[in-house]
Amino acid sequence: MTDDPSPTNDPNPTNDPGPTGDLLALKTETETALAAAADLRAWDAVRVSVLGRGGKLTALLRDLGKAPPERRRERGIALNQLRDALTASIEARRLALEDAALAARLAAERVDPTLPPRPAPAGLIHPISRTIEEIAAIFGTMGCTVAEGPDVETDWHNFSALNIPSHHPARADQDTFYLPARGNLPPPVLRTQTSPVQIRTMLAQAPPIRVITIGRTYRADHDATHSPMFHQCEGLIIDRDLTLGHLKGCLIDFLRSYFGIADLPVRFRSSYFPFTEPSMEVDIGWSRKTGELGNGSDWLEILGSGMVHPRVLANCGIDPREWQGFAWGMGVERIAMLKHGINDLRPFYESDIRWLRHYGFSALSPTMLHEGV
Ligand code: DAH
Repeated sequence: MTDDPSPTNDPNPTNDPGPTGDLLALKTETETALAAAADLRAWDAVRVSVLGRGGKLTALLRDLGKAPPERRRERGIALNQLRDALTASIEARRLALEDAALAARLAAERVDPTLPPRPAPAGLIHPISRTIEEIAAIFGTMGCTVAEGPDVETDWHNFSALNIPSHHPARADQDTFYLPARGNLPPPVLRTQTSPVQIRTMLAQAPPIRVITIGRTYRADHDATHSPMFHQCEGLIIDRDLTLGHLKGCLIDFLRSYFGIADLPVRFRSSYFPFTEPSMEVDIGWSRKTGELGNGSDWLEILGSGMVHPRVLANCGIDPREWQGFAWGMGVERIAMLKHGINDLRPFYESDIRWLRHYGFSALSPTMLHEGV
């Protein structure tokens, strides 16, 4: 048998593989097996067959003591080198296989975020929700957080604390929805404005304050431009040394961003609200004839505002000699109708799918200031 030469009767002493000849063979064999190992399972089998408890290299190390004494030192050194070399190749192969496995997984799980979703989302964002998002995004850049309050309010929060006297017409039955009274307390109301959230905010947190509040309000009114339930957005800023100039800058910035018209004409007209002093109504320039905003010689009233009345601050435990505030309130539907050319309020609440398809917003194009809202 040619492949099993017996060293004892080998006539040619140069054929002696020497003290390390078998080690080279193990090295080559292991490296070939490693290269052939296509996955981590196969790799592990190679590792165990060489370095494992019953592995070939382990056996050679164990048998070192049986080598003839004159060869032992040289063989010991060679075995150690071989162990280091094989350990390194095995580790290198593991890393390569892990890298390949990760690359394959990444390729298989690759997601293209620019693809439209399949199927396309069926729903659309209602114009009221979209308008609320836009308002919050703009005032958010001015440092406002969103405050909330209940729809069912006490008479005190909705009227008295806001300096609305008991004989004020807003309290009349034909405007306000009253709920049954409990005990001797005045009957609770469905809030007629978001202004009571100003009161709740001032009672709950110490100044400085920057909040907006957006929510449902209720009044006994129903026609093409009035609904018994509608939405308001209110803002309240309390700080030291605030002036009408701050109020004007804040609202001009808001109106120009919201309507996307950089030079939108804005006019402040003195007015009266019980909770502000002085009070101002704010108008924007438009053309009554064409409905175009920002152009034309007509003015359109868009919101109410003013410096918070010192009595309202005092009602909430804030010292009016130390703190000033300004506030504003507007109708969400109204500014949505103006921006999108909607001339009837009623379909906002009718859930008519044709109207919603026409005026709804894609859920995939959220409100983003850098794109203009
Ligand atoms: N609450 C008022 C309304 O419903 C709107 C308003 C005007 C709110 C002036 C304010 C304000 O905060 O300062 O008509």
